[in-house]
Amino acid sequence: MDEKKNIGSLFDRIARSYDHINHLLSLHTDRLWRHRAVSRLSAADSVLDVAIGTGDLAIELVRSRKAQKVQGIDLSEQMMAVAAQKVAARGWSDRIRFDLGSALDMPYADNSFDAVTCGFGVRNFSDLDKGLKEMFRVLRKDGEVLILEFSYPEQRIVRRLYDFYFSRMMPFIGKTVSRDKTAYSYFRNSVKGFIWGETLCDRLRQAGFKNVTFTPMTFGICTMYKGVK
Ligand SMILES: C[S@@+](CC[C@H](N)C(=O)[O-])C[C@H]1O[C@@H](n2cnc3c(N)ncnc32)[C@H](O)[C@@H]1O
Repeated sequence: MDEKKNIGSLFDRIARSYDHINHLLSLHTDRLWRHRAVSRLSAADSVLDVAIGTGDLAIELVRSRKAQKVQGIDLSEQMMAVAAQKVAARGWSDRIRFDLGSALDMPYADNSFDAVTCGFGVRNFSDLDKGLKEMFRVLRKDGEVLILEFSYPEQRIVRRLYDFYFSRMMPFIGKTVSRDKTAYSYFRNSVKGFIWGETLCDRLRQAGFKNVTFTPMTFGICTMYKGVK
């Protein structure tokens, strides 16, 4: 699959409305998820934020003093253009940097970062195991990996409400606000078709990470994964 053409251009198309829709659809809970996740990390000098997108996780890393410097990488130039504006507005352009590239083949040396993070990115990888192995490769020994990803609630009632919201309301709101007919149906399918919980933990272990744990948040709509190299 041509990642840049498919995923990169999809995110390029919705980049300008991404933050707005993200906060709207999650009722601003996404900010809380990032904040909680980052608070679990140890302070580090250099963090790699894979699939940095519009930069909210990277900004939270610097804001909460968990990272001195953040290197971001993403397939979408337009998502990173939005991130760069937000970063410049805070005067952090020397602390958060951007590379256009794929998480599956990153231009960094082995053991280069103290921590690696990825917010709502891994489910988009065309080859999950390759992406996780790359994250492992560039992380230094004893460094932490932190992943945030959507998941599926366990409780039946919450699951029903979530299904309705996700299948009916989300594509409608997404389509109306972003004016993109396909993007938010893609999001629904990418979440429903993805793995979560112990299954994703096993894939992290297969990539080489140890002490892998997961923490469901907000009835399991989002899950945080942690591990160590
Ligand atoms: C849902 S956004 C998440 C952005 C941001 N991390 C956040 O927390 O809001 C997913 C991002 O993953 C990027 N992405 C998807 N597959 C990628 C890959 N293989 N390599 C690099 N970036 C990728 C997309 O371009 C997009 O910006």
